[in-house]
Amino acid sequence: MSNLDGKNLDGKVAVITGAGRGLGREEAIQLASQGARVVINDINLPDAEKAANETVEEIKAAGGEAIAVFGDCANTADADNLMKVTLKTYGDLNIMINNAGYCRDKTIFGMSDEEFDSVVQVHLRGHFVNMRNAAAYWRGKAKAGEQVYGRLISTASEAAIFGSAGQPNYAAAKAGIVAMTMGAAQLMIKYGIPCNVIMPRAATDMTMQGPTAAMFAAPEEGFHAFDPANVAPLVGYLSSPEAQNIAGEVFVVWGNQVTRMHPPTFGEAHVNPEGDKKWTLAGLHGSLASEFSDGYTPVLDGYSVKPQ
Ligand SMILES: NC(=O)c1ccc[n+]([C@@H]2O[C@H](COP(=O)([O-])OP(=O)(O)OC[C@H]3O[C@@H](n4cnc5c(N)ncnc54)[C@H](O)[C@@H]3O)[C@@H](O)[C@H]2O)c1
Repeated sequence: MSNLDGKNLDGKVAVITGAGRGLGREEAIQLASQGARVVINDINLPDAEKAANETVEEIKAAGGEAIAVFGDCANTADADNLMKVTLKTYGDLNIMINNAGYCRDKTIFGMSDEEFDSVVQVHLRGHFVNMRNAAAYWRGKAKAGEQVYGRLISTASEAAIFGSAGQPNYAAAKAGIVAMTMGAAQLMIKYGIPCNVIMPRAATDMTMQGPTAAMFAAPEEGFHAFDPANVAPLVGYLSSPEAQNIAGEVFVVWGNQVTRMHPPTFGEAHVNPEGDKKWTLAGLHGSLASEFSDGYTPVLDGYSVKPQ
C-alpha cells in the first residue's frame, strides 16, 4: 500500500555524505521528513562540522532523528567508521546516498596532477568506499537469510555525458560514478536493492561561484528553479518502497523537472564491404566520411551541457 504522503521510511536508516550543506543537506531533511533516521556525514573541518551540526539540529527541531559523523568520504578508515557508528547507533543501514564532493576547475592545459587526483579522489573514490561498505553489508545480511531493505543513490553530473571543458577531473570522476553505479545495480538487483544515479542542477556553494553563478542565481520573484530543495523529493522517492522497481536509471533533476536519461545506444554499424577482413584506411574513409560531411558540426559550440 502506498503511503507517500506519510512517513513511508519510518525507522529506516539513511547515510548521506556531504550532508552539512547544499544538496546533501536538503536530501537529509527530506529523508528525515519521511521518517528515516539520518546520519549526516561531512568533512572534519570547522565550517563543515558546524553546518552538519546545524542540519542535525534542524531535523531534531522538526521532530526527526539525526546524528553527525565527521570524516573524509573518500578515506577508507573514515568510511568504515561512518558505517560502524551508523550500525552502533541505529542498528541497520537502509539508504546510502553518496553526494559529497568539491571542484577544482581548470582546463586540460593547466590542470596539475594534484587538482586531477583530489577531485577524482573525493567524488569517485568517495562513492566507491561507501558503496562497497553498503553493498557488502546488504549482501551479508541477505546471505544470512535476513530481510534486506536497501537503496543506493549516487550523485553524478551531466558533465559525465557531455564533457565539461573546464572540469576534466570532475567530468571524468562523474562518468566513473555512473559506470560504477550501473555495475552495482546489476549485482544488487539480485538482492532486491535498487541502485540509481541522479544528475542534479542547483544553486549551492559549488555552483554559486565562477561562471555558473549567474545561471543558477535566484530570480527576483517566483519559483527558484535551482533551489537545491527541488532535488530532494526525487531522492526521497527513489528511497521509498514505492520505487522498488526503479533500478539502473540515471535522472537529471532540477526545478520542477525530472528527466530519465535514455541509455546510450549504438548507431548503425559500418561493416567492411570487402567482407570478413581487417579494414583498410581507404575502406574506412569510403564508409565513414559521408557520415561526417554535409551539415555535420564536429563539436557543438557553447556550453558543454546542452541548454534545454
Ligand atoms: N549543484 C549542482 O548544480 C550540481 C550539479 C551536478 C552535480 N552536483 C553534485 O552534487 C553533489 C553535492 O554538491 P553541492 O552542489 O550540494 O555542493 P556543496 O559544496 O554545497 O556541498 C558539498 C558538501 O560536501 C562536503 N564535502 C566536501 N568534501 C568532502 C569530503 N572529503 N568528505 C565529506 N564531505 C565532503 C562539503 O563540506 C559540503 O558540505 C556533489 O557530488 C556535486 O558534484 C551538483
